[in-house]
Amino acid sequence: MMPVRRDLRFNLPKERACDWHVQGSHVTHFFNSLSLLFPAGERFFMDSVRHYRDQIDDPELKKQVLGFIGQEAMHTREHVEYNDLLQEAGLPAHKLDRRLWAMLNFGRKILPPSYQLAVTVCLEHYTAMLASLLLEDSSRIGGSVEGYTQMWTWHALEETEHKSVSYDVWNTVLKPGPGRYLLRAGTMLTTTVMFWLIVFDYHVRLIIADRKRGGHIRGMWRVVKYLYGPRHGVFPRIAGDWLSFFRPGFHPWDHDNRAQLARIDALVAAVDATNAATPSARKATRRGVQAAA
Ligand SMILES: [Fe+2]
Ligand SMILES: [Fe+2]
Repeated sequence: MMPVRRDLRFNLPKERACDWHVQGSHVTHFFNSLSLLFPAGERFFMDSVRHYRDQIDDPELKKQVLGFIGQEAMHTREHVEYNDLLQEAGLPAHKLDRRLWAMLNFGRKILPPSYQLAVTVCLEHYTAMLASLLLEDSSRIGGSVEGYTQMWTWHALEETEHKSVSYDVWNTVLKPGPGRYLLRAGTMLTTTVMFWLIVFDYHVRLIIADRKRGGHIRGMWRVVKYLYGPRHGVFPRIAGDWLSFFRPGFHPWDHDNRAQLARIDALVAAVDATNAATPSARKATRRGVQAAA
């Protein structure tokens, strides 16, 4: 699977930044808390993979690394603007973004490159799991404000497209054996705890900052159902995929969801149509689709 860098712009109505999800503001802020993780997080991913680029001989994988970096750079650019809308709406977006930069910069200083790559591999498995869920189940985001839905769908599609790149780099540059397995599995355990603690913390802070909106009992009920509901909740639905990561022979494409990528051209066309229909929007231009290499 060759990741393609798509230079897209999205029409995000700023008055809906705190309430764009069809299930209300509390679920909106779950997505918003994830958005706050991307600028610092994706930079960390790009750097940890780039560190090993010269050790890759396979020209195919080299190209995939370029595509991966190109896609993450586009995601970051769009999430920075998205997060600015959250800041404008009165949420502490910049403060939380800076906090994550500080944490990850500290990690960069103290962790050896192989640990940093392990963290990336684990978090790329997270983005792949969450992306797959978003794409396979229309109740995850369907019916929400169009521009936000398009942006999250685009991000989910590209996370799927490049889901194996950091893992293939990992397998290429690290010596096979129990050490490699233990580092990957152990990092998944610690990364899981850290990731959800940060998401929970950021999510609660956004809800508190937006508390004047009201409807908290219904909103909290919806978000609890959205995340933990036994049939459709995020956590129960990703549990199997999360466990599969611990198989010694795991590979991201063991979960073959290539079929989900068939939507991508239709999505790009829909983004164009939305942007053309709202020429006054500040992000109404798309600057063409180009291949990574
Ligand atoms: Fe991304
Ligand atoms: Fe990614």
